[in-house]
Amino acid sequence: MPGNYAVIGMGFVGLSQAIALAKSGHNVIGVENDTQKLRWLENYAQGKRDDFPLYEKDLDVETREQFRARRLTFTNNLEHAVNNSEAMFIAVGTPSLGNGKAKLSIVYQVANNTAGILNKNQPYLWVTKSTVPPGTAEIIRDFFKDHNVGVVSNPEFMAEGTALKDTMYPDRVVVGAQEDWVITAMRQLYSSFLARSAGHFRAMDNVSAEITKYQANVQLAANIVMANIGANLARVVGGDWEKIRLGVGDDIRQSRFNKCSLGFGGSCFPKDVRQYRHTLEQAGASPLDLAVIDAMIAQNEEQKLVMNNYMTDYYGHDLTEKVIGIWGLTFKAGTSDTRESSSLAIIKDLIRHGATVRVYDPKATREEFEETLGLEDTSPITYCDTKEEAIKDTHALIIPTEWSEFSNPGIQTLQDLMTNPVIFDGRDILDIELFRNTEASYFSVGRQPLINTT
Ligand code: UGA
Repeated sequence: MPGNYAVIGMGFVGLSQAIALAKSGHNVIGVENDTQKLRWLENYAQGKRDDFPLYEKDLDVETREQFRARRLTFTNNLEHAVNNSEAMFIAVGTPSLGNGKAKLSIVYQVANNTAGILNKNQPYLWVTKSTVPPGTAEIIRDFFKDHNVGVVSNPEFMAEGTALKDTMYPDRVVVGAQEDWVITAMRQLYSSFLARSAGHFRAMDNVSAEITKYQANVQLAANIVMANIGANLARVVGGDWEKIRLGVGDDIRQSRFNKCSLGFGGSCFPKDVRQYRHTLEQAGASPLDLAVIDAMIAQNEEQKLVMNNYMTDYYGHDLTEKVIGIWGLTFKAGTSDTRESSSLAIIKDLIRHGATVRVYDPKATREEFEETLGLEDTSPITYCDTKEEAIKDTHALIIPTEWSEFSNPGIQTLQDLMTNPVIFDGRDILDIELFRNTEASYFSVGRQPLINTT
């Protein structure tokens, strides 16, 4: 039987959830407050424009398809959404406030407004998909104390770039709730998803579900920190991190989330590690527990500048005469998202040392990048349409993002286009053998550098 659902917040989380439900045959109302974005989505869905407000694999095509099949509609009218649904999925943003705490005011505002609209006797499900700290469900419950509402903590585990696939084929669905009827309803709702993926249904209390989300991200972030520490070691004493990580990862107890990089970024890991630390502190965690998380955060910040430090070793601290090419602005390949991307720290540091930069990214837009960069004066930055243009007459190239189009640049092209072919590979995606016995110098994260001294 098709259900009627509302999804609040049409970012990549909410949109993926809405599409996954619609594709499973349900009727879904997507609620978006930002009227400009709402119109954009509607116009795209109706075929009136062909550019989509965000870059995320398959979301554009599926939005149009589900809209045309009349299973997905959009509105900014919460009342309409509440009155035409039996459950509401909350997928609004919870960005970091200055002190590391997640901003929850939008979640509470939606809860308050929903409570004002909802009929007191109508059984209804409030499902939190947004990442919220432990204790949030308890506060939400208070808004609905006079209603018949099941408050569910149902964190999402999708990664950008594979959001729809991760939602359609979940390896697990975590459901935190108090009442048995709520757990039963959620199990049924997700049964077709889990049947497709042979995933697990994990029922628990709300607080456990809330912690599960943070714990998952913090443990994955810790893997990357350990990988980068190992890669830094391999680079200094000899060894190749790519070989080491495969040797470690064949033991199934070890995660494979261990590729070296210039630190982790994005809209999730950095924010969630900070909120986790805040939660630990509030809970009176031991100084050593806090110190471990502090060290993770500090290591990750330091890792972002590993290539910049090489650069100043190589060229000295005054980079005023230097033009540096940057390949990749997004926090990883497969997304247009530049939030907390390593490129931000890298470019700011280069500009601080007086360099000018030429940047290229296959998906990031200049507007979004400059918004995340937050620099008043962006005149030292030239935006290029191709990767070749970005290295023309440059003294060095830094590669912060692992886009596949960067992995085989051709040594001749580098030598022809660059004033001085000095390559800083922040993802170890290039074959080091390309650079042996050439006039280029090559630095990577997890291997010893090849420095041309002639
Ligand atoms: C992450 C988690 O992977 C998802 O499971 C989670 O649901 C999501 O956060 C979320 O909380 O919403 P995402 O931020 O899209 O997803 O990106 P990841 O693929 O996890 O990458 C995060 C960062 O770690 C990137 O900067 C990436 O380049 C870096 N990374 C990842 C490495 O440096 N090495 C690796 O081996 C893997």
